[in-house]
Amino acid sequence: MHAVRRMIDAVGESDALEAPAARVADAVRGWFAPRAVKNALSGVWLGHRLHPLLTDAVIGTWASAGLLDLLGDRRDEPAAQRLVAAGLAASIPTVAAGLSDYSDLYDHGRRIAFVHAMAADAASVLQAASLLARRGGHAARGRWLSLAALGVVGAAGYLGGHLSQVLGVGVDHTAFDEGPKDWEDTGVRASDVTSTPQVVVAGEHQVLLVRVDGAIVALANRCSHAGWPLDDGPVEDGCITCPYHGSVFRLADGAVVRGPAAAPQLRYGVRERDGRVEVVGPR
Ligand code: FES
Repeated sequence: MHAVRRMIDAVGESDALEAPAARVADAVRGWFAPRAVKNALSGVWLGHRLHPLLTDAVIGTWASAGLLDLLGDRRDEPAAQRLVAAGLAASIPTVAAGLSDYSDLYDHGRRIAFVHAMAADAASVLQAASLLARRGGHAARGRWLSLAALGVVGAAGYLGGHLSQVLGVGVDHTAFDEGPKDWEDTGVRASDVTSTPQVVVAGEHQVLLVRVDGAIVALANRCSHAGWPLDDGPVEDGCITCPYHGSVFRLADGAVVRGPAAAPQLRYGVRERDGRVEVVGPR
């Protein structure tokens, strides 16, 4: 196995990290409980996680400052300072969105995310020190601090990439789900579908059947946030709440009403044949 991958796995398995990682998550979870805050920071309004988008702004501005430091001359110092300051400003919403995502993690992923966050915060401290040094007339010291920050934020970015690309944190967990390609009989009579969701199996996937305003709706039972089943969640006001991290989905169309999920639930095609429910999809 790749040496870096082994190191990251060791971080994820570290018992020593569990207590501080859990303490931080427990301390901040309440901050993000209000629906408007959770939706804003999860990227519900964007249909996509917000944190990875914002990290591009931070890393992009700091990398640009680094290029000016390495390739430019004294006249480029004011522009470099503005780029360092812009990255620091962008780091505020980036940290907020990251902490919101972090508060819904557990175990292996949370321990890696803890180190990712510590590295990102250390990079911000180094850049803040750099800005102070540059503005105090110590441009050379400021450049070294910025270069050190770039290295640290690069390591943080690597861990962030591992979290999303390898562990699937923040991805739509139903992205590759396929239902039956042709209409499939669920074995359920249409007259038995009520406003209380019930689970049926279609193809290889569980599907929630529910009646909304007289019509039958079929949604994936796997939550788009982290792939856990929805059917044990409470139903209220035409919505189902995922029992795992509290995402709320509208039963009529699977839309996200509250994060942390940013992607809607998959919706299957549904029809009645000879009094029984058939599904196909998703569509
Ligand atoms: S699995 Fe996280 S909200 Fe559903």
